[in-house]
Amino acid sequence: MLVQDVIEFFDSLASDWDETIQVDEKIVDEVLNRANVKEDAIVLDVGCGTGVLIPYILEKGAKKVTGIDISPNMARIAAEKNKSEKVEIICGDASSKGYDHRFDSIIVYNAYTHFYDPELLVEKLCHYLKKGGVLCIAHSPGYENVNSMHEKYSHVTNLLPETEEMKAIFERHVKIKGLVDEKDLFLISGIKY
Ligand SMILES: C[S@@+](CC[C@H](N)C(=O)[O-])C[C@H]1O[C@@H](n2cnc3c(N)ncnc32)[C@H](O)[C@@H]1O
Repeated sequence: MLVQDVIEFFDSLASDWDETIQVDEKIVDEVLNRANVKEDAIVLDVGCGTGVLIPYILEKGAKKVTGIDISPNMARIAAEKNKSEKVEIICGDASSKGYDHRFDSIIVYNAYTHFYDPELLVEKLCHYLKKGGVLCIAHSPGYENVNSMHEKYSHVTNLLPETEEMKAIFERHVKIKGLVDEKDLFLISGIKY
């Protein structure tokens, strides 16, 4: 999987993204609750795409939301849609980007499989979590559906690692807080200690 292919793939989908995807608000609410997004939280939305999650994060009372996406077209749309002093959109590679502050909650929603080095990403993100902060990686639909959907796009996505492998990656960096492995949601979360 080449980063340039990922960028081109998502750049080409960006203008139709919001019309194509279906947002299940119940799932989004569960993801944000499990990521501990609440009043005054400082939140990082990794692989934010067009910023689908951002209004829901703000609704929870977050103080600041940073969205990062490697696709310039996705990041541009996210910035256009979310003009608020509470929102910052960065176009960049979340595996290597540094930040000048740490986060209460970091969410990777429907994006984890597109990262070329999944463990590097977790390690990087955990560095920017506050102590007691939560990292939450989630995919909807769940494990099997995501992997069968992704099989035909192997040039721009990996499959989700086995649950045990995900747990092992998390355990090297955070204390596991929650695991959901259901038909419509796969989620793993951990707390920085
Ligand atoms: C399937 S989309 C999901 C977008 C959004 N989270 C949503 O649920 O609508 C995955 C996103 O991850 C982004 N992405 C892939 N690799 C990335 C990287 N290394 N750094 C930042 N974003 C990345 C893609 O550009 C794409 O917008």
